[in-house]
Amino acid sequence: MTQDELKQAVAQAAADYVAQNAPAGAIIGVGTGSTANFFIDALAALKDRIGGTVASSEATRKRLEGHGMPVFDLNEVIEMPIYVDGADEIDGGLNMIKGGGGALTREKIVAAVATTFVCICDASKLVETMGKFPLPVEVIPMARAHVARELAKLGGRPQERVGFITDNGNIILDVHGLQITDPKALEAQINQITGVVTNGLFAVRPANVLLLGTADGVRTLT
Ligand code: 5RP
Repeated sequence: MTQDELKQAVAQAAADYVAQNAPAGAIIGVGTGSTANFFIDALAALKDRIGGTVASSEATRKRLEGHGMPVFDLNEVIEMPIYVDGADEIDGGLNMIKGGGGALTREKIVAAVATTFVCICDASKLVETMGKFPLPVEVIPMARAHVARELAKLGGRPQERVGFITDNGNIILDVHGLQITDPKALEAQINQITGVVTNGLFAVRPANVLLLGTADGVRTLT
């Protein structure tokens, strides 16, 4: 199976999860990236059954609207039973690195409102210890140099993502060379640096369910 076929299989499994677990009329949170795009395409088949969606990025909003699905402002939504999104790395505790697509802040905000975070990945994303994938950190532009110096003190090698501005008008520093042995502590520590909007560790609020695409089919881990 190709990587795209694995992504498509987990995306369909996530749509099936929504069909089986979300009450009729529910608002579904939708992530960002190539795997999330396959999920959006699969979710379109349920558009008469769900109440609508909340998007974690402008790209996701456009794709959802392209399928004729209502997209709500998160501030109008009180309950969201399920949020579905991909990840760049995920460990056995369902902690993740996210933000390869630069949407980490909105993804974290939407995930914070959701009851259940369903992560959809192909098997290459499951790792023992996170950190091989550079950790994205969203930063207020005027704080770039200060934040980079503080991240270097933590043992990382921050590199600005060239030519990239987030949906919130900020920059991304991708931090290479981190050995993430305590993801929850590191998430909190980096978020304490003045000028950081948020970082791509999702450990304080990890996934609840992982649908993992393997050559032998979709595995469910909780
Ligand atoms: C975007 C993300 C994505 O979920 C992550 O980068 C995985 O993307 P893909 O499904 O394309 O591999 O966090 O900000």
